[in-house]
Amino acid sequence: MIRLQNVHKAFGKNRVLRGVDLEIRDGETLTIMGGSGTGKSVTIKHMVGLLKPDAGQIWVDGLEISNANEARLHQVQMKFGYLFQGAALFDSLTVAENVLFGVRNLRPELMDRAEELVVQKLALVGLKPEVADMKPAELSGGMKKRVGLARAIAYEPSYILYDEPTTGLDPIMSDVINELILGLQKKLGVTGIVVTHDMKSAYKVSNRIAMLYEGRIVADGTPQEIQNSTNPLVKQFITGSAEGPIQMAVRAYE
Ligand SMILES: Nc1ncnc2c1ncn2[C@@H]1O[C@H](COP(=O)(O)OP(=O)(O)OP(=O)(O)O)[C@@H](O)[C@H]1O
Ligand SMILES: [Mg+2]
Repeated sequence: MIRLQNVHKAFGKNRVLRGVDLEIRDGETLTIMGGSGTGKSVTIKHMVGLLKPDAGQIWVDGLEISNANEARLHQVQMKFGYLFQGAALFDSLTVAENVLFGVRNLRPELMDRAEELVVQKLALVGLKPEVADMKPAELSGGMKKRVGLARAIAYEPSYILYDEPTTGLDPIMSDVINELILGLQKKLGVTGIVVTHDMKSAYKVSNRIAMLYEGRIVADGTPQEIQNSTNPLVKQFITGSAEGPIQMAVRAYE
């Protein structure tokens, strides 16, 4: 289980997280929705120790990680797969080397069966073994996301962080990625944390959806509850209306 308790994070004067409370239960897929720049990526980076909170605590399976030493943090990071926003593949490395990147660093003992691992993980995301020798520049956007996903699951993590898994993909490829997320939850029993503003995807893959706004979680519920929410912030966000209490454009100039 992951628990964020009253997490605060500022970058200079930019107070991004202002008391985030959030719990992710084992086996569920939780989606964090919220406008651009609200701190969704910043929130999930705290879960793997890539960012440290200014105040508050982050618990992963009973360990408080914001004060954990390097060795403990390393142990926690092994539990996470991370699909980075925009896939973030290494252009100079082949697909196989990209897939193995985390394995080499976090689980070197698995490198004995590296080739088998690559083929297996590529198959899980619906890619043929031939793709292993290609470079990212030769791949379409959808293929890149899949390779990013294969990399995220390569060392069999119990948690996967999906940062904007469907952004920039056509509706069909988006749905393929949604199916993969659902499949990983079912087949591997992974706990998923998805960041997205693609509401169709959020409704499909999530057991629960939480909304981040002005540094806090302002709503939290099942997809059904979110769809029926009377909270004006939620209503405005899910209908994508420029009129309402959310003032995104204004915030950038504050
Ligand atoms: N390493 C950093 N240093 C300084 N500021 C940062 C850093 N990371 C994020 N920020 C700032 O924190 C805010 C939240 O960024 P974040 O990337 O979490 O947004 P987001 O909700 O993921 O948005 P998007 O939907 O556009 O990806 C932004 O104002 C951003 O500029
Ligand atoms: Mg982001």
